Amino acid sequence: MVLSATDKTNVKGIFTKISGHADQYGAETLERMFCTYPQTKTYFPHFDLHHGSAQVKAHGKKVACALVEAANHIDDIAGALSKLSDLHAQKLRVDPVNFKLLGHCFLVVVAIHHPTLLTPEVHASLDKFLCAVATVLTAKYR
Ligand code: HEM
Repeated sequence: MVLSATDKTNVKGIFTKISGHADQYGAETLERMFCTYPQTKTYFPHFDLHHGSAQVKAHGKKVACALVEAANHIDDIAGALSKLSDLHAQKLRVDPVNFKLLGHCFLVVVAIHHPTLLTPEVHASLDKFLCAVATVLTAKYR
């Protein structure tokens, strides 16, 4: 997934508004994913997945912070997420289809909180960015 210069500018722009809310947006993304796509819950049998769960909040923060990190290193997402790529591909072995579900839920959360910023162009750039992140996190499966 190749991001154009405009995509990179759009992603960095929207992330300046997202990064201050990483905890909240991350938790909301996970809550939506678990509710809308219950099959994703199978990867978290050890988590309390109820609304308001401290584990979901803590994990949402980690996921959103990783996305912020990727946006901050948009020219080297593979390098920025290298350890996470090892973890997801070699240990967790999350079916790649699930990354699309998480990415979609993140987009919805951003749309809810920033409806005017998420123009069709920014939406398209953010979608490409999330696909690029998913590609990196599923690149080391073998
Ligand atoms: C762990 C990020 C997608 C399942 C993690 C961690 C991060 C992360 C930062 C914590 C790593 C650590 O503690 O060292 C991401 C990002 C994703 C993504 C940025 C995509 C944008 C997914 C998906 C699933 C998943 C789609 C499954 C539906 C897990 C699981 C763990 C984990 C099961 C371990 C949780 C634990 O036991 O603490 N991920 N993840 N991830 N991720 Fe992902």
